[in-house]
Amino acid sequence: MMCSKCGIKCSVVTLILGVILLTMGCVMIPLLHNIIHEKIRETMPLVNGSESYNTWIDPPVPISFQIYVYHILNPKEVVQDGAKPAVIQKGPYTYREHKEKVDLKYTDDGHVTYREITWYYFDREKSSGPEDEKITTLNVPMMRNGSDNGIFKINTGKKDVSNLALIETWNNQTKLNYWPTPWSNMLNGTDGTIFHPFIEKNRSVILL
Ligand SMILES: *[C@@H]1O[C@H](CO)[C@@H](O)[C@H](O)[C@H]1NC(C)=O
Ligand SMILES: *[C@@H]1O[C@H](CO)[C@@H](O)[C@H](O)[C@H]1NC(C)=O
Ligand SMILES: *[C@@H]1O[C@H](CO)[C@@H](O)[C@H](O)[C@H]1NC(C)=O
Ligand SMILES: *[C@@H]1O[C@H](CO)[C@@H](O)[C@H](O)[C@H]1NC(C)=O
Ligand SMILES: *[C@@H]1O[C@H](CO)[C@@H](O)[C@H](O)[C@H]1NC(C)=O
Repeated sequence: MMCSKCGIKCSVVTLILGVILLTMGCVMIPLLHNIIHEKIRETMPLVNGSESYNTWIDPPVPISFQIYVYHILNPKEVVQDGAKPAVIQKGPYTYREHKEKVDLKYTDDGHVTYREITWYYFDREKSSGPEDEKITTLNVPMMRNGSDNGIFKINTGKKDVSNLALIETWNNQTKLNYWPTPWSNMLNGTDGTIFHPFIEKNRSVILL
């Protein structure tokens, strides 16, 4: 008898506790969800010192590329006698690419403008020979070293985080006038190194 009485009491207590916990859970889950989203909205914008700012300024993932070149063995004969070039493949020559952002200026309407410079650094360890190895071909990274990619104006995402890093203008233009069709001249999306948070599965992400 005592046992079953306790059993009923216990069941009632457990039921009440269960209802309380369930209610708390129902309230807490959306609350936590909001807190987390709020936190992300605070940390994502590209303002000086934010987490995304640091990875944007100095991306932790190194970009490197390797090139292979054809070394012409008989350049004299080719030039003088029109001989068929005899070539051997040389490489790889590995370069690290670093895009430096300079002249950062923040505007009051939630944008930042900057100039982007591309630098290349030779990686001897991951290359088959020294960079100054004598090869009769063009050294492309050396030619492009320190090249200026123009002035970008992008959204910091401070006002609306879903606009994070969207390119507004490039060299003061909202579109290019280089390609033959309007679509190919559009400047949409980000430069591909950074995206806004809360991307839905069904949403397409636009890259420049
Ligand atoms: C960012 O903040 C640091 C430290 O406060 C400062 O030294 C630096 O100049 C700032 N950079 C820009 C682009 O405002
Ligand atoms: C590019 O320029 C930087 C700075 O002057 C230099 O350290 C680097 O070695 C150069 N890279 C190439 C591939 O010439
Ligand atoms: C872009 O516009 C700013 C101010 O509107 C001007 O100072 C700057 O010279 C312009 N830059 C180019 C590349 O046209
Ligand atoms: C893409 O950019 C063009 C201007 O370059 C603009 O007219 C158009 O609305 C943009 N499209 C989207 C989807 O943002
Ligand atoms: C993606 O799906 C969500 C909910 O399933 C919907 O609210 C939203 O409009 C969709 N977005 C696009 C771009 O289709």
